[in-house]
Amino acid sequence: MLILGIETSCDETGVALYDTAAGLLGESLHSQVDLHALYGGVVPELASRDHIRRLVPLTREALAKSSRGLDDLDLIAFTQGPGLAGALLVGASVAAGLGIALGKPVTGIHHLEGHLLSPLLADPRPDFPFVALLVSGGHTQLMRVDGVGRYRLLGETVDDAAGEAFDKTASLLGLGYPGGPALSKLAEQGRADRFDFPRPKAKSGDLDFSFSGLKTAVLTKVRQLGTLDASTRADLAASFQAAAVDVLVAKCLQAMTSEGLDRLVVAGGVGANARLRAQLVGAAARQGAQVYFPPVHLCTDNGAMIAFAAALKFPGGLPEETGFPVHPRWDLAQAASRQGS
Ligand code: KG4
Ligand code: ZN
Repeated sequence: MLILGIETSCDETGVALYDTAAGLLGESLHSQVDLHALYGGVVPELASRDHIRRLVPLTREALAKSSRGLDDLDLIAFTQGPGLAGALLVGASVAAGLGIALGKPVTGIHHLEGHLLSPLLADPRPDFPFVALLVSGGHTQLMRVDGVGRYRLLGETVDDAAGEAFDKTASLLGLGYPGGPALSKLAEQGRADRFDFPRPKAKSGDLDFSFSGLKTAVLTKVRQLGTLDASTRADLAASFQAAAVDVLVAKCLQAMTSEGLDRLVVAGGVGANARLRAQLVGAAARQGAQVYFPPVHLCTDNGAMIAFAAALKFPGGLPEETGFPVHPRWDLAQAASRQGS
């Protein structure tokens, strides 16, 4: 079964073809970073317009890379939510249009389910059950995953998402948008032990997170310091990153212990962070556990995770669906219960 996956929930236009027999065939991606950088964050209207411009050429490109044509498709999958309503509608409209024109079924996929299942694209692939850390710009959640569509929320952030904290702290340090990758790059040159930032909720006993206090601690320190030289900025970045990563690692270990599981899967944009990867692998190994990541380029938003999630959810294909509602706010538990055989 050949599946076209379309992702347009935020600021990346992603298209990919996944074949249930041959695996991932071709991927195309356009990041809108340059478009939004000027404004210091994503401008929804500009995002929608750019998705309109990019989606059809990227679909052609992904098909060409895969040496496949539109007629070869068996299923079209698109991100149905959560995300920016206008941006989601672009992917939904193109998917629905293709479905009608080709007479092929179309299905909507939950963005977080795409992230959650993407580590299964890696080799080695984790067996169920596992604990999943979903750590992106909009979400920070720990889940217990017993199978495709069988997810239980263990804990989540009570305020900012981890990626949001990276982005806001980066902006404080004058790194622009999107801050996460730039901050982690700057942190490589800094001393993580120079500033002792708080590790919020690290010892709270529950599996929830809180990142807004950490962000405020950096803001307070920046104000206290006044002008920042290059090495101080790097030390601030490194010390912030160390605090954020420490909390994420502590909660992941705690989640595995409380669930009696020894497999951890990390998904979402912050999963690309090198320190998080290294610390998790080390800490998990000391606990006799193993950590699985998607390939780095599949940590951030992409079409492959959407096509792949559709392949796992609907292994027997899908009857034709009509209409294409999007869900800008969408609970994963609701989405997970929809599944084929
Ligand atoms: O999953 P994603 O592409 O989009 C959402 O669904 O949110 O995640 C984007 C988030 C942004 O906050 C970005 O700054 C963060 O992931 N991010 C990183 C790194 N790469 C991306 N944060 C820390 N270190 C990185 N290397
Ligand atoms: Zn995402």
